[in-house]
Amino acid sequence: MRRSMHTLSSVFSALLLARLVFAQPSPQVQERISAAIKAAAKSTNIDYTAFVNPFIGTDNFGDVCPGASVPFGMAKFSTDLTGYAPAGYVTDPTQTIRGISPLHDSGTGSSLGSYGNFEIMPLLCPDGFNTCTTTLAARERFRKNNTDDASPGYFAQTLDNDIKIEATSTRRAGLERFTFPRGSGKPYFVLDLANDLPASFSGGTMDIDPDMGRITIGGRWEPSFGPGIFLYQAFACYDLLDNGAQKLDEYGVWTGDTYGLDQKALGQTHLNLSVNLIGGTPYQSGALFSYADDPSEVNIRVGVSFVSADQACENAETEVGNARFENIMNQSKALWQDKLSRIEIDVANTPANVTEMLYSSLYRSFLTPNNATGETQGAFANTTAPYFDSLYCSWDTFRTFYPLMALTSPTDFGDIVANYIDGWRQTGWMPECRSNNMPGWTQGGSDGDNIVSHFAVTYHNEAAELGVDLNDLYSALVTDAQLNPPEWNIHGRQVNVYKEYGYVPYAVFDPSSTGRQTREGSRTLEYAFNDFGVRQTALVLNNSADVETYTNRSLLYRNVWDPSVVSDGFHGFMQKRFPNGSFAYENPIDCSPQDNDTSRACSLTEDNENGFYESSSWEYSFFAPHDIAHLIELMGGNETFVNRLDHFFNKGYYLAGNEPSFQTPIEYHYANHPTKSVDQVRNVVFTNFDITPAGIPGNDDQAAMATVLIFHFLGLYPVHNAFLNVSTTVTVRNFDARSVQQTIPSGVAAYVSKVTINGVPAASRCHFDFYDTFRLGGEIEIELTANKNSVDSCAGSLPDSLSTGGFASAR
Ligand SMILES: *[C@@H]1O[C@H](CO)[C@@H](O)[C@H](O)[C@H]1NC(C)=O
Ligand SMILES: *[C@@H]1O[C@H](CO)[C@@H](O)[C@H](O)[C@H]1NC(C)=O
Ligand SMILES: *[C@@H]1O[C@H](CO)[C@@H](O)[C@H](O)[C@H]1NC(C)=O
Ligand SMILES: *[C@@H]1O[C@H](CO)[C@@H](O)[C@H](O)[C@H]1NC(C)=O
Ligand SMILES: *[C@@H]1O[C@H](CO)[C@@H](O)[C@H](O)[C@H]1NC(C)=O
Ligand SMILES: *[C@@H]1O[C@H](CO)[C@@H](O)[C@H](O)[C@H]1NC(C)=O
Ligand SMILES: *[C@@H]1O[C@H](CO)[C@@H](O)[C@H](O)[C@H]1NC(C)=O
Ligand SMILES: *[C@@H]1O[C@H](CO)[C@@H](O)[C@H](O)[C@H]1NC(C)=O
Ligand SMILES: *[C@@H]1O[C@H](CO)[C@@H](O)[C@H](O)[C@H]1NC(C)=O
Ligand SMILES: *[C@@H]1O[C@H](CO)[C@@H](O)[C@H](O)[C@H]1NC(C)=O
Ligand SMILES: *[C@@H]1O[C@H](CO)[C@@H](O)[C@H](O)[C@H]1NC(C)=O
Ligand SMILES: *[C@@H]1O[C@H](CO)[C@@H](O)[C@H](O)[C@H]1NC(C)=O
Repeated sequence: MRRSMHTLSSVFSALLLARLVFAQPSPQVQERISAAIKAAAKSTNIDYTAFVNPFIGTDNFGDVCPGASVPFGMAKFSTDLTGYAPAGYVTDPTQTIRGISPLHDSGTGSSLGSYGNFEIMPLLCPDGFNTCTTTLAARERFRKNNTDDASPGYFAQTLDNDIKIEATSTRRAGLERFTFPRGSGKPYFVLDLANDLPASFSGGTMDIDPDMGRITIGGRWEPSFGPGIFLYQAFACYDLLDNGAQKLDEYGVWTGDTYGLDQKALGQTHLNLSVNLIGGTPYQSGALFSYADDPSEVNIRVGVSFVSADQACENAETEVGNARFENIMNQSKALWQDKLSRIEIDVANTPANVTEMLYSSLYRSFLTPNNATGETQGAFANTTAPYFDSLYCSWDTFRTFYPLMALTSPTDFGDIVANYIDGWRQTGWMPECRSNNMPGWTQGGSDGDNIVSHFAVTYHNEAAELGVDLNDLYSALVTDAQLNPPEWNIHGRQVNVYKEYGYVPYAVFDPSSTGRQTREGSRTLEYAFNDFGVRQTALVLNNSADVETYTNRSLLYRNVWDPSVVSDGFHGFMQKRFPNGSFAYENPIDCSPQDNDTSRACSLTEDNENGFYESSSWEYSFFAPHDIAHLIELMGGNETFVNRLDHFFNKGYYLAGNEPSFQTPIEYHYANHPTKSVDQVRNVVFTNFDITPAGIPGNDDQAAMATVLIFHFLGLYPVHNAFLNVSTTVTVRNFDARSVQQTIPSGVAAYVSKVTINGVPAASRCHFDFYDTFRLGGEIEIELTANKNSVDSCAGSLPDSLSTGGFASAR
């Protein structure tokens, strides 16, 4: 007995030790957040930024950028690490740091990453300028473990040689502060011209002005997720003298490669490099400089631009100017507080980790896309419309990201919608997956349609005031629906064959347009849902002829339903279909998490023969968000539908980390079994999300994961609409904190018995309308009961479906 106890406790301390050694970030980050949540329970003046853990999603392929950013910041200052690190930073302590850089994306899964441009690394070169470790491989260093730190508007990391790197930022600029250990000697810095992250340098220039203490850089690189034929340009301006408080010593340029080239040129101030047509070995080149008088602290101001180096300098001057690090940090924090306080919760009665997850998710929901208004290039040069970079991709963000924005932030939503419409104005079609300012790959349909039509439905009364022209919005939608682009991999849809056959046929001869002819099943389903968005907007505009056309088209999803396919005893699945009408069988389990063939192509590659994108037919057969009632009929009625959903989750066909799975946990509502949705959502949240760096199930996809989690948590909180100037308070009667766990214990209230909106009982306990609630403001009261069986029905109407008369009018 004693012995076994001993064994147990030594296992325990080994685990504890492992945690201490491997834990990133600094344990103090969590201690600080926990203390703030505890203190806030007794406070009325709450600092929501103190609840944010920017490191959630920086491990387990979450690809979250924890760098310093303002809301929708174009600048996101973060270190860049080796290994799989699309956002620059990762927690993995076995990876090394190559420097800190000012532009990043958050939550994009391009494996080589993006925007590591203009990286700077502090160095010690005890043997002088010519011995500095300037190349990528030579300069990389481990972090000092357990010291990484970040909060909204602030990022810090310490190298294993005790040099501390800190950053804070504005929309297009920022300040970097480097603290060297006392007595470490002269501080050196290597500044990179060529490196981005994917090694796609296609030429650029660098100039050092030693008198001004200014280095300007500009160049061209390939986008991280899209055709390499499009190059983007980017610029930076580094001001090295801290408004005269610092003095340069040596300066010059360097070049290097991995095969022995490692040259420095002291006093040289100009580099002009062209694209390397042979490719292979990426160019390595940049500036190297040191400071006089051995300062232990060095402050560097950085501006970025997509227009010119001059504009990068101007951005630094106007946005940062002479401000000190703490001023800029405070300013950024205040911008974050404004966004985060749009949802307030009862902190005292909410489990601390839920509070942390909620506000960290809300933080990420305002981190992207990157507001590059006034920083346009290519087809968008000179546009006067708002402009956003990294719409990466609409396929990921239409489901939950923009609907959440609609509740709290119509002004921001209006800016982004205006930017989508401007895409149609400048290029002929709305953008689908803009990455690094260039067109990125389309995943399925033209899913920008879903985003702008959601805006039209919720804010058509205020559209003009929000900067959105509804007629242009509608023209952009109809373009996607009617006009087949010659190349539909980057925008628009293959509507010619879709209109001709009533589905996207498999192995069809298309004489007039080009694109990757795969994913015919999921593309048909998505095209139909895109058409539903057009229909809703036509309804808003009283265009009854179009309402009929697009109602019909939104029902075309039915054409890929093959009633003869059986899987695990369930009948009928979505399948791809030949032009002659025959179905092309694919096992519905293929490309699900239970697919035993792990080498099967399920993504964008040409050998994806599955018919569905990043998902199985089991999954996509639940996708007709506008007409679930008819899906239920196709599947054999309510009982079978519920059994099928249960089987889908129990058998492991559900994939929390991917967007096509977002709606399934709540589909029980449509079969009149809302309590089963409650149970399923609990299960999904508690098996996939937590407050650790690995706390999201895969790529955040520009906060798609963050926002689905917020919706899973929602229903409990006051929400401020910052434009309509209304607040909606949701009060939950009989809330029991014990219900906040994976399996709700029996006898604990968690199931909705009654909903009251501004004093009037709602017509159903399964749904309510934006126009009666968040648009008007007021009080929503949700009453819970522990008596699950007594409330396992909607006690009124089911959520809308087209085929049962839903979505009949615009409001
Ligand atoms: C940090 O921890 C990792 C993993 O144990 C280790 O490989 C690395 O050497 C450590 N770094 C330092 C500076 O100790
Ligand atoms: C760089 O060199 C190219 C020719 O190789 C020239 O066209 C271009 O003007 C130069 N750019 C700068 C900024 O010096
Ligand atoms: C930053 O904000 C803190 C807390 O509000 C305040 O104490 C401090 O004086 C501010 N610092 C600057 C430089 O604005
Ligand atoms: C933008 O304006 C500049 C200066 O007027 C002009 O040279 C350039 O052609 C314009 N670009 C586009 C895409 O219209
Ligand atoms: C984007 O930046 C512009 C220019 O600063 C600003 O007017 C606009 O409010 C910003 N929009 C968002 C959503 O941040
Ligand atoms: C559509 O018709 C309704 C009812 O007649 C009217 O209130 C609304 O202003 C019309 N909308 C548009 C965009 O014409
Ligand atoms: C829509 O479908 C209905 C029923 O099939 C048909 O009667 C009607 O003509 C169609 N309308 C349009 C505009 O296609
Ligand atoms: C339809 O076309 C496919 C592929 O060419 C073929 O295998 C199938 O037999 C055809 N079906 C009919 C009914 O002709
Ligand atoms: C995958 O392999 C397991 C173990 O051999 C088997 O039980 C299961 O049925 C297989 N799944 C499919 C979809 O073939
Ligand atoms: C499912 O249940 C709802 C509510 O009881 C009912 O209106 C609907 O007709 C049922 N659907 C089917 C296909 O039986
Ligand atoms: C929150 O923490 C509690 C207690 O440590 C734990 O049981 C629960 O699983 C956590 N919740 C989530 C969603 O991670
Ligand atoms: C909400 O208040 C702001 C600031 O007072 C004002 O600019 C805006 O027009 C108001 N919105 C509406 C819809 O009244």
